[in-house]
Amino acid sequence: MKEIKIGLLGLGTVASGLVNAIAETKELLAKRNKYSLSIAGVAVRDLNAQRDCQVDSSLLTTDTFSIVNNPDIDIVLELIGGTTLAYDLVTQALKNGKAVVSANKALIAAHGDELFALASQNNTAIFFEAAVAGGIPIIKALKESLAGNHVTSISGILNGTCNYILTQMQENDEAFDDALQGATDLGYAEADPSLDIDGDDTAQKTAILASLAYGTWFGTDAIEIKGIRGISLSDIQYAKESGYSIKLLGSYTLNSKGAVSLTTECTLVREDSLLANVKGAFNAVELEGDLLGPAMLYGQGAGQKPTASSVFADLIEAASQACNGTLGQQQEMIFADKAEFIPEE
Ligand code: HSE
Repeated sequence: MKEIKIGLLGLGTVASGLVNAIAETKELLAKRNKYSLSIAGVAVRDLNAQRDCQVDSSLLTTDTFSIVNNPDIDIVLELIGGTTLAYDLVTQALKNGKAVVSANKALIAAHGDELFALASQNNTAIFFEAAVAGGIPIIKALKESLAGNHVTSISGILNGTCNYILTQMQENDEAFDDALQGATDLGYAEADPSLDIDGDDTAQKTAILASLAYGTWFGTDAIEIKGIRGISLSDIQYAKESGYSIKLLGSYTLNSKGAVSLTTECTLVREDSLLANVKGAFNAVELEGDLLGPAMLYGQGAGQKPTASSVFADLIEAASQACNGTLGQQQEMIFADKAEFIPEE
């Protein structure tokens, strides 16, 4: 049985969930696959931090580049976030021919097209299911299941923290700041929660989904970003009395002339609609394809286990390809130049 060695960049909430999941599914994976997974190195900020997973302390290092330059490592899992160090590490790993799994929406939104091209030049691949909507397999749906469709619209609740806050305010009259603290305590919020409440996280996810749907890599520059900061209990109450819920939606629309509109903003949705009934940290993505018609994907959009579920799926796919020697051989999507983006007038 071939041993596939993985290197982890970061050992925070999601990475710890993944390490536990790998340990718990070892026997099942061995039965199902022709390879075994082993952790060959873990880069952390603090060697002595308390952790909620079991990792051999001899595998820990603070030298992040020792992971991406380790010739024994086949797959690098980037779970540190941000776009500076993460960018340097991911590009180095790809140049070294390693497969990369990343949950980093900011990095993929800003540099996705460049990273896919770099992966392809080095006969490898980058996987990013966990970057959008936590455990919901929306990236796979767009890249694979909907590959033959023109996707004409996508609209979704893409941030678990904001949806948790809005739900707590609507259902329990909880104050905004208390609800945000709850989302942080439950492990939904970003290290800097202003990325959640000011809409940047939703915009990054919207840009990624729109890019996959349209075939041009949109940055978040194409989006006027409005978050939920400033929404008050009286706004929520007023909407409720009128039969609506307030939701933060990320939306992509392709009109019949081929013009694209991208938005991230609070939207009133009718209380009897499917989106209004997406509560807490759950996410949902409504989309429409010319062949499929309307569809909706729903599930947990944030939190340790759902996000680890998507990272694990990517890891298994990368390991299968590494085992079969097919990494980088799958036809990648080709993205037209950014200049071909036709904004709505
Ligand atoms: N902070 C993000 C959210 C985590 O609340 O949705 C998942 O991307």
